[in-house]
Amino acid sequence: MYDSFNRRINYLRISVTDRCNLRCLYCMPAEGVPSLRHQDILTFDEIVEVAKAAVKLGVDKMRLTGGEPLVRKGIVDLVKMISRIDGIKDLSMTTNGTFLETYAQPLADAGLQRVNISLDTINPEKYSEITRLGDIRQVFRGIEAARKAGLLPIKINCVVKNNSFEPDALQVKAFAEKENLGVRFIREMNLETGDFGVVQGGEGGNCKMCNRLRLTANGKIKPCLFSDLEFDVRQYGPEIALKMALENKPEAGLMNTVNGFSNIGG
Ligand code: 5AD
Ligand code: SF4
Repeated sequence: MYDSFNRRINYLRISVTDRCNLRCLYCMPAEGVPSLRHQDILTFDEIVEVAKAAVKLGVDKMRLTGGEPLVRKGIVDLVKMISRIDGIKDLSMTTNGTFLETYAQPLADAGLQRVNISLDTINPEKYSEITRLGDIRQVFRGIEAARKAGLLPIKINCVVKNNSFEPDALQVKAFAEKENLGVRFIREMNLETGDFGVVQGGEGGNCKMCNRLRLTANGKIKPCLFSDLEFDVRQYGPEIALKMALENKPEAGLMNTVNGFSNIGG
């Protein structure tokens, strides 16, 4: 499918939960954010309906995000349901990696192809500071489990303050090279002020090349991360909501005052 600026849209990012076991400084306040109400969260059947409608319209690439997708109960079953849809060539997940040690193999068995793992530093103390709750050893074990399960290529998402020459970023880069992992540097963004940039080593942040739509955990199709526009799949039905998002996808992002990273998954 093509939007009104003739960009081909073939990528849907699905946020499966707004919850997370961590509280990264740049993503959430220490006390967390108010959680969505249970009845507002899409069921697996509803998510699959949206995924199917998206495939019919030409989407062949999907990513599950959060919050942290692995805190959603039954996530392996959801992956199974989505991977069975004919026409998806690339099915991936963005995760903080802390539960991958347990989930990597079941996810691979369910049809997940690959993972992106968030890691902003390789220093254990600093990791605990940035994530407020995290234990970096879990992430390291998660990376190994993902490798063993064949969730390849594994890519590291590294959020940087300004650029990839910061000490932590350089250490993450060296670690990734040594471990044979891809790495993408994402400049810390601010949704509300519209402060965003191109993801180094990735595809995000370049409006001209944008190929994506997003589904939030509470069932809104968002045409752009940096826009308040959203179309409710329960209100319009998946197909019409997707088409409305497509038709209204802005040429470039501006700002987003209604979502946080915790419910849109980056
Ligand atoms: N700026 C940039 N990236 C962010 N993420 C979360 N909050 C921000 C922010 N303010 C990233 C996480 C993860 C992905 C889901 O989004 O680090 O890699
Ligand atoms: Fe959780 Fe990811 Fe937000 Fe960190 S950035 S608090 S891991 S959702």
